[in-house]
Amino acid sequence: MCGIVGILGKGPVAGQLIDALKRLEYRGYDSAGIATLDHGQLARRRAEGKLQALAARLEKEPLAGNIGIGHTRWATHGRPTENNAHPHATDRVAVVHNGIIENFRELRERLIAQGAKFGSETDTEVVAHLVTAEMKQGKSPADAVAATLKQLRGAFALAFLFAGEDDLMIGARKGSPLAIGYGKDEMFLGSDAIALAPFTDTISYLEDGDWVVLTRTSAAIRDEQGAKIERAIVKSTATAQMVDKGNHKHFMAKEIHEQPEVVGHTLAHYIDMIGEKVALPEELPFDWRAIKRLSISACGTAFYAGLVAKYWFERFAKMPVEIDIASEFRYRGAPLEAGDLMICISQSGETADTLATLRYAREHKQHILSVVNVSTSTIARESDVVMPTLAGPEIGVASTKAFTCQKARDVLYLGRGTSFPIALEGALKLKEISYIHAEGYAAGELKHGPIALIDENIPVIVIAPYDRVFEKTVSNMQEVAARGGKIILVTDPKGAKEATIESLVTLTLPDMASTVTPLVYALPVQMIAYHTAAAIGTDVDQPRNLAKSVTVE
Ligand code: F6R
Repeated sequence: MCGIVGILGKGPVAGQLIDALKRLEYRGYDSAGIATLDHGQLARRRAEGKLQALAARLEKEPLAGNIGIGHTRWATHGRPTENNAHPHATDRVAVVHNGIIENFRELRERLIAQGAKFGSETDTEVVAHLVTAEMKQGKSPADAVAATLKQLRGAFALAFLFAGEDDLMIGARKGSPLAIGYGKDEMFLGSDAIALAPFTDTISYLEDGDWVVLTRTSAAIRDEQGAKIERAIVKSTATAQMVDKGNHKHFMAKEIHEQPEVVGHTLAHYIDMIGEKVALPEELPFDWRAIKRLSISACGTAFYAGLVAKYWFERFAKMPVEIDIASEFRYRGAPLEAGDLMICISQSGETADTLATLRYAREHKQHILSVVNVSTSTIARESDVVMPTLAGPEIGVASTKAFTCQKARDVLYLGRGTSFPIALEGALKLKEISYIHAEGYAAGELKHGPIALIDENIPVIVIAPYDRVFEKTVSNMQEVAARGGKIILVTDPKGAKEATIESLVTLTLPDMASTVTPLVYALPVQMIAYHTAAAIGTDVDQPRNLAKSVTVE
């Protein structure tokens, strides 16, 4: 979370910084800021709210300077105010940060005792003061940063700009991603290659513990021990085009409608249509037959996708599967057998908890397969096998028309089997973009508690294709109807005919093989959330408090 960018440019960089930040807004959008060097002096502009507030500020109060850093924030420490917006600075150094400095309290107290004056509530500001304190002792900027990094605990990607140093920028990475972009007599830093796409496609990714001293013509990388090190320079395929909404009002609507195409594209990649067999990567570094137990770890929507995979692996491959949300998996000390397989699922490939589970599995000598949408991401790079989803960039952070639930305060989603994860996903999507409270339950669990919530004001959205558990789900709908609950049934023609209870609305999807229902039934639940949120008028693509890439715990 939080996006950072740095540019050692040939001309004024303020506009370029804003352009790069636009591409990073998916990482956070509660405030933003940039700092440049104007005649050797550090100058900053920061603004509360989305990036356009900063852009508007810069129109009125432009910033000169051919070198600069920028930040778009997702607040962790301190409210999203202008004072807490990055860059944080002293008269010697400005810094932007993605991550959390866990020991910031003790560092802050020590610095205050030494006379440092703090202007924000953030963890990040200690970094600017620490570097400044080291420089005041006579250290060069690079030595001051090296000494500072040794004092920090937590996760960070950092970019530093120094007063009086027009050809110097320093970046550091531990836990949060950071890429170097190579230009001709220009150099860049960014949270990802997409941010740098308008400027360069020549990228190298820092590894954990690396830090880099940049000039316009050089990049000197050191590892955590301070040894000089080379990191591969690769060509990025990130597109320079700003992804647009096409004819849609929101990115979310566009991304919902793109699914038939991108799911088809992804399936075509993994299925040999002519040979009618699955086409897995040829060189798997493990033998499926030797895997005794499969573990799956992910967060949020990716976790629900993993839950569907669990049903499939167990039903079709008869393989025992353990699945847990990554933030629990990583800390519960689960015993993992060497040689078994961990599957990590992540759209962004940067989710901190999922990455930590991957590393936990690695410590336990497991094979690691990741399913990611960003194939240059950290999770992809640290996996033994990567199976990319080919969905293209996802920008939107999460009723059929003006659905009845728009006025409801609470909504229940029910499903059985592979429709249970879809119920969970429906509830998550509705909560995150419409701010209506929603819960997803396994339909059979209803009578064990949630049924107490049912009355005539509660819409109950039932995901029930006509499958082997359909009749059981119909019984649960009876239980809802008997208590006055309003049922919205998502089913197929046979289900619509056989459901013996009256629903408020029935959404009838085409007949399909039961193996594909989780893919297809995800669409109506997304549409319900989308149209509800659009009707209420919430910010569908950038809902409050959220960020697309969650690189903190
Ligand atoms: C929900 C949503 C989040 C993400 C979660 C994991 O709509 O977007 O719940 O699914 O933060 O993110 P990735 O898949 O990037 O690891």
